[in-house]
Amino acid sequence: MSDPSALDLSLLRRTYARAALGESDVADDPIAQFAAWFAEAQHAQVPEPNGMTLATATPDGRPSARVVLLKSVDARGFVFFCDYRSRKGQELDANARAALAFWWEPLERQVRVEGRVERASREESAAYFATRPRGSRLGAWTSRQSSVLPDRAALERELAAVEQRFAGVDDVPLPDHWGGFRVVPDAIEFWQGRPDRLHDRIRYRLTSGGWTLDRLSP
Ligand SMILES: Cc1cc2nc3c(=O)[nH]c(=O)nc-3n(C[C@H](O)[C@H](O)[C@H](O)COP(=O)(O)O)c2cc1C
Repeated sequence: MSDPSALDLSLLRRTYARAALGESDVADDPIAQFAAWFAEAQHAQVPEPNGMTLATATPDGRPSARVVLLKSVDARGFVFFCDYRSRKGQELDANARAALAFWWEPLERQVRVEGRVERASREESAAYFATRPRGSRLGAWTSRQSSVLPDRAALERELAAVEQRFAGVDDVPLPDHWGGFRVVPDAIEFWQGRPDRLHDRIRYRLTSGGWTLDRLSP
């Protein structure tokens, strides 16, 4: 008897044919190339173009992945924010390496980033925290991210206690347990979908002489 919950997706396929990516199309600097593609993703109205899959791993090599939001990028790297006590925070404290993947479906583009990870400075995290709506700032005090809760009500009780604690306080401060991580890239790949699965892949790798470009087989 066939499994009623099994999905056979073997015929679910799309042809990617929007564009091509050549060695001469890309910038010398991968961050400049990322900025150019990000602007095109925004222009194409990709929903939440700064959503990225973040992969981390325990020191013994058990991987985990989740979506987070890119909040800044420059020559120093790619920054996101979270609770340092979370699963990803603990994994990054023990094994400070990560990978990121963006999928911009309307453009048939993927960007992959790999590198070591460092914490953002407290000043940088405080500056970002101050831009968050009050509810999100209170949420950072309320949630111990990735811990097990008995039920939703426990979270709401904690929120009520936090609301009371900060009643009348305009500048809800940055919690010690919360802040940014920066992925400092040593490899960045730009992927453009092409027909017949013969996609274009251009990878930048950091070498002693700077960024080196390679075309990878699809
Ligand atoms: C679109 C989207 C954006 C998210 N952005 C963040 C984020 O910026 N920071 C964060 O800590 N979690 C974010 N999350 C939640 C994470 O996916 C995840 O549930 C949470 O960080 C706990 O992960 P962990 O237990 O592996 O640490 C986001 C989820 C989605 C779907």
